[in-house]
Amino acid sequence: MQETRALILDRLTDGPVSGPALATDLGVSRAAVWSHVETLRDAGFEIRDTDDGYALTGVPEYGGAAIEHELDTDFEVAFHDELASTNATARDRAADGAGELVVVARQQTGGRGRLDREWSSPTGGIYASLLVRPDVPPAHAPVYTLAAAVAVTDAARAVGVDAGIKWPNDVQVSGRKLAGILTEMEGEADRVSWLVVGIGVNANVEHTELPRGTSIRAEAEPVTRRSFLASIVDRFAELTDDVESIVPAWRDRTVTIGQQVRVETPREQIEGEAVGIEFPGTLVVETDSDTRRVTAGDCEHLRPRE
Ligand code: BTN
Repeated sequence: MQETRALILDRLTDGPVSGPALATDLGVSRAAVWSHVETLRDAGFEIRDTDDGYALTGVPEYGGAAIEHELDTDFEVAFHDELASTNATARDRAADGAGELVVVARQQTGGRGRLDREWSSPTGGIYASLLVRPDVPPAHAPVYTLAAAVAVTDAARAVGVDAGIKWPNDVQVSGRKLAGILTEMEGEADRVSWLVVGIGVNANVEHTELPRGTSIRAEAEPVTRRSFLASIVDRFAELTDDVESIVPAWRDRTVTIGQQVRVETPREQIEGEAVGIEFPGTLVVETDSDTRRVTAGDCEHLRPRE
């Protein structure tokens, strides 16, 4: 958000402030304050003229300025009513040289999931792609997907939904999918150029639209999407600032460790007990004959052995 506008919103969050006081505090003209207030009103913020000055009486449920208003971190937000895929737009922005950015869409017409599956994206859901440029080797990229899964799980738990993570990155409630993550990357041999971490959360989606999944609304109450998404982005930033913290946090929230699993990799099928997770997201599986380490694949939880 434009910096003066963000400062005006911050000031109004603490209570009414007069136009002249804002102009003096922010070092701009009264006309500039008025113009910023009008722009905020156009973006859906309810700002009343009261005897004590401008009073913030309502924030839009969702939208770019509303998300930025909630964010503690410095991600720029690019908000769209409709996109084919937020990941595709974030990739284009990365190719154009954009810095840290969250691309958000109210709905997607061509949302993509892992293994080139379709990701149904009706209104009410949260569809966001985080563009980051960490200074790490490409082999470390999977840990950013794990961080996103932890961030979504924490946001869901904070609103009373008992979510857990199925390896590598499905956020589930009692075996029903609540959210998915699709990470894409460009890099050279030794360094990532950019990562796009795409997050789809069935937030305020009717469960009738989700035959095999679930939603926050189905498990608890509908959420305020601007706050829910801001908490995911802030938590993601906190975790990725301390990369060592990600795998332990993921381990604490997973429902896969201790399960009998079947993992479909591009080359083979591995069956056994999931016994651990190692940096940057490798699943350790104890089979009947040996211990296997799996870096990528489709994981199914099987019934525990008798
Ligand atoms: C999966 O579980 O298969 C991953 C689903 C990822 C969906 C999100 S929605 C936002 C972003 N844009 C996309 O096209 N996909 C991801």
